[in-house]
Amino acid sequence: MDDRELLRLANEARKNAYCPYSKFAVGAALLCEDGTVHTGVNVENAAYGPSICAERTAIFKAISEGKRGFVRMAVTCESDHCRPCGVCRQVMFEHAPDMEILMGNTEGSFVRTTVRELLPDGFSF
Ligand code: THU
Repeated sequence: MDDRELLRLANEARKNAYCPYSKFAVGAALLCEDGTVHTGVNVENAAYGPSICAERTAIFKAISEGKRGFVRMAVTCESDHCRPCGVCRQVMFEHAPDMEILMGNTEGSFVRTTVRELLPDGFSF
C-alpha cells in the first residue's frame, strides 16, 4: 500500500461524507499493521455536538473490528492539505502515537507528518 493509493482511498471515501451543515467533506484511510485499510468520513448532526471527524470514524471503525496496530493515515479535503483537529490528534495519540499522517487534498498532493509532531507531549496515563 503506497502513499498515492492510500490518498486515493481517502478521496474515494470522502464522497460518502455527510456534511450538510459545513459542506466541508473530509475522507480518511487508515492503514493497519495487517495490511487492511479502514476508511472514514465526517458525519455531522443537526445538533452539531454529536458530529464526528473522518479521522476518528476511521480509527473507531478499525478498533471495533479488532484492529490495533496503525501504521499510516491519509486525510483529504478539497481546499488545502487537511489538518486533523485537536480532538482527533488526542485520539490518534492514544492509539497510535508513532503513526504517520498524510495530510492531503483532492488533487493528490500531501504533506507528511507524524502524530508526535502534531501533538507533542500529548496526554496519557
Ligand atoms: N473535519 C474532519 O472530518 N477532519 C478534519 O481534519 C478537519 C475537520 C470535519 C469536521 C466538520 O464536519 C467539518 O470537517 C468542518 O469542520
